[in-house]
Amino acid sequence: MVDINNEIQKLDWKREPYGLYEPIEYTLAAGGKRVRPQLAMIASQMFGGKDEDVLPAALALEVFHNFTLLHDDVMDKADVRRGRPTVHVKWNENTAILSGDQMLIEAYKLLSGVPADKLPKVLQLFNKMATEICEGQQYDVDFESQECVTIEKYLKMIRLKTSVLLANALQIGAYIAGADEQAQEALYQFGINIGLAFQIQDDILDVWGDPKTFGKAVGGDISCNKKTFVYLEAMRLLGEEMGGEKQELQQWYSQVLEDNTEKIAAVKGILERLCVRPLCELVVYDYTDKAIELLNTLPQNAASDQLRQLANKLNDRKE
Ligand code: IPE
Ligand code: IPE
Ligand code: MG
Ligand code: MG
Ligand code: MG
Repeated sequence: MVDINNEIQKLDWKREPYGLYEPIEYTLAAGGKRVRPQLAMIASQMFGGKDEDVLPAALALEVFHNFTLLHDDVMDKADVRRGRPTVHVKWNENTAILSGDQMLIEAYKLLSGVPADKLPKVLQLFNKMATEICEGQQYDVDFESQECVTIEKYLKMIRLKTSVLLANALQIGAYIAGADEQAQEALYQFGINIGLAFQIQDDILDVWGDPKTFGKAVGGDISCNKKTFVYLEAMRLLGEEMGGEKQELQQWYSQVLEDNTEKIAAVKGILERLCVRPLCELVVYDYTDKAIELLNTLPQNAASDQLRQLANKLNDRKE
């Protein structure tokens, strides 16, 4: 398989105005797990596709993903990503907005390089996914100031903001390789389930990750009053009764503070007393199991083995 990192490094951003393109180069040079392009490439291989046919879409997916991160970090007031200052910190918010916009355009330019007979359907799938991500991001922000977020609403939100991109990468890879609709759909659902597991794991790492390996500041979700799976599990365990720790947790989550040190420590204390973490981890494993069941209905070969390994590896990730 082509080395996706290598292909990303080949993209040339040495253009003027530097203020627009340098942040793009900075972001794409910072690494990251490259999960989405890998999914597209492996899905294509699973159905006997040629790497060169799917590569433009794989690159487009990674550039698009990185675009969402530039804007997401502004929205989430996140100062660190992949162990480095985020674009809005290193430059400023205007830069994160405009370089992000340009990355979205660059993603579409890359996407247009897929085989011409495949482009109309690939565009249709990509557009649907891109809109769904914006919808998911809007729910995510709306929920910051809503007290009654249910698990159902949360799952819908993370399916939109996170899962559809993974699912779409798999479907596009399979479609370009010539997989039939039923196989594309099964692979898409595999992606939805690994995406749900992936986002819940991200929620866990946002509380208990090691900033050195996670590359992001821990406690960011608590600072923003994000209704993550970790928070919702804590609220569920605290049950119907009012007062006590439930009131304390809700009180912290009704505040937007300048300095979040005390809030993060207090909320973490409550989460730990409730032993929320292993419960969340079980759910991560459940969604991964569901994903793997779906994968088992598809052709079994070296590529499907790779997808199975990747799904399991993402559960235990620290980054
Ligand atoms: C971050 O995605 C956004 C989420 C959906 C949690 P990744 O965890 O894949 O980020 P990188 O690309 O590896 O840095
Ligand atoms: C990621 O959600 C979703 C998108 C970027 C579209 P998060 O806000 O949890 O991602 P991180 O934790 O900042 O990477
Ligand atoms: Mg974020
Ligand atoms: Mg976010
Ligand atoms: Mg997160």
